[in-house]
Amino acid sequence: MCGIVGYTGKGDVIDVILKGLTNLEYRGYDSAGIALRDENKIKIYKALGKLINLKNELETNKSEIKNPTSGIGHIRWATHGNPSVINAHPHTCTCGKLAVVHNGIIENYKELREILISKGCKFKSQTDTEVIAHLIADEYANTKNLEAAVRNAVKKLQGAYAICLIHEDEPDIIVGARKHAPMLVGVGEGENFIASDTTALIEYTKRAIYLEDNEIAVISKDKIKITDIEGIEQVKKIEVLPWEPVALSKLGYKHYMLKEINEQPDVIRNVLNGKISDIQNPVILNEVSLNKDILKNLNKIQIIACGTSLHAAMAGKFLMEEFAGISVEVEASSEYIYKRTTTDSSTLVIGVSQSGETADTITAIKQAKSKNAHILIITNRPDSNMARLADSLIPLNAGIEVSVAATKSYIAQLISFYLLAIHLAEIKDSLPKSYLQNLKHEMIQLPSKIESILSDTSVIQACARKYSSYKNFIYIARGINLATALEGALKLKEISYINATGYPAGELKHGPIAMLDETMPVLSILIPGGITYEKVLSNCEEAKARNAKLIALTSSEDENINNIFDDVIKLPKVSEILSPVLACVPLQLLSYYIAEFLGKDVDQPRNLAKSVTVE
Ligand code: G6P
Repeated sequence: MCGIVGYTGKGDVIDVILKGLTNLEYRGYDSAGIALRDENKIKIYKALGKLINLKNELETNKSEIKNPTSGIGHIRWATHGNPSVINAHPHTCTCGKLAVVHNGIIENYKELREILISKGCKFKSQTDTEVIAHLIADEYANTKNLEAAVRNAVKKLQGAYAICLIHEDEPDIIVGARKHAPMLVGVGEGENFIASDTTALIEYTKRAIYLEDNEIAVISKDKIKITDIEGIEQVKKIEVLPWEPVALSKLGYKHYMLKEINEQPDVIRNVLNGKISDIQNPVILNEVSLNKDILKNLNKIQIIACGTSLHAAMAGKFLMEEFAGISVEVEASSEYIYKRTTTDSSTLVIGVSQSGETADTITAIKQAKSKNAHILIITNRPDSNMARLADSLIPLNAGIEVSVAATKSYIAQLISFYLLAIHLAEIKDSLPKSYLQNLKHEMIQLPSKIESILSDTSVIQACARKYSSYKNFIYIARGINLATALEGALKLKEISYINATGYPAGELKHGPIAMLDETMPVLSILIPGGITYEKVLSNCEEAKARNAKLIALTSSEDENINNIFDDVIKLPKVSEILSPVLACVPLQLLSYYIAEFLGKDVDQPRNLAKSVTVE
């Protein structure tokens, strides 16, 4: 969500922090700021809007910046207080000697603020973060030791935080602390780092130490000390990060989103790699320790997720019920948290998350864990907090996804659910072997079919141009492609800000049909040979009778389809059950090109963040 970078060492402090923030900018981008320790003073620069504005601000003031030896930087996604220079981080205490950046939400900030005001603290912003600065300064007045002051202060905080701070009187140390928000220390030579995500470090070091909740890190250029909340030093493992800097390059594409859409054939190959060695044999899903005994006692599966991952979960539910006959519930994480659930020790709870850091899903998973459910996490970030809660883990191996709108992680989640559903069916012996063999055979061909979609996008681009001025869309489908329709509509909303609704095709006549006229295009997903084809076609005819413009996404070879639909986007031949893997791709491209034609900020759409670490 917000991004944090702290740096001390031999390098160019401003350059290192700005590069780190650039690599985090996809996570939040309404304002940015930096605090530098320069000539034994703390100097703070902030700017509203994207990071480029902070870069310009630093350029304007470069004559007053001499040789900073350490600093902290932040990009913000506003929670408390609107995006403004005053509310941008870093925040300071009344004397201005301390600067702090923060990711998370301090729930008791109002009470703390009152107490601190009564002690004479002067507040400038509307943020919850500013209380942290005043609180630590208050503790520092007693302890004269920054580490101890942080330790005392964080004990008084309720909520979630990853904080990073510097103090004028403590030369060249940076202190970091975390609870329910990610933070790690990058280990260098003659330099060290603190960051909220590995992508900030990728260009400088591959060695990192992950902080646990309630741990405090104190770094200088050649020392790292990590203690628990009571000050007891912790022996921590240095992990080697898997990413290469090239993972953050656009590789010649105009946007990360287009690059990531085009990476999807290889992503599928990666996910399938080693899982289907021979279609005659069972899928190899060693990560999932679900044997016959566990399955015998399993009475249901619950899947918890948010956003795009929730749509993958819906497809997953369909597959596991269809293939293995197990009852599956899908719940938005934020809903699961606040209701009486039926989760118990005979429930398999699957958490799905690209980032592995989504606060709603983490809270929901913790709740399920406390009820002794078996926890399976499907994530693109095996190094994430969510992954650490897993009893079983399916890593997506999709590579870093930078564009805020999820694409390649969605397709990797879908493929993971196919593998999991087949795995369950094979353990339970619930499907004929020939059916499973055909399915695996077809799955292996999916990457080349997507390559054929990507090789000619002219029809999709023409559609995007034609429909980019429409203000409302309905996407309809039935069965397993209902998830595809919901995801297609979400993609359009996210990056073009056009109102798009995904709906079960059969439900159109029970309400939404009232909205239909020539201003409302209806996009439908029709897969011939599937059990829903004829019915969806009838629903399209009903829409046509109300003058709606009709767009078909179909693998139909039937010439007649051109007479019914205004526009037809063709899919390669595919079975209905596997069609979501192909159908999502033209829908991603349609959204992409519409947003492009409208001149929207495709990779960093307004108001969104890639990783939402607040509930
Ligand atoms: C944010 C992003 C969405 C994403 C959702 C869930 O809202 O903007 O693109 O689908 O979070 O994220 P996760 O990392 O848990 O999949």
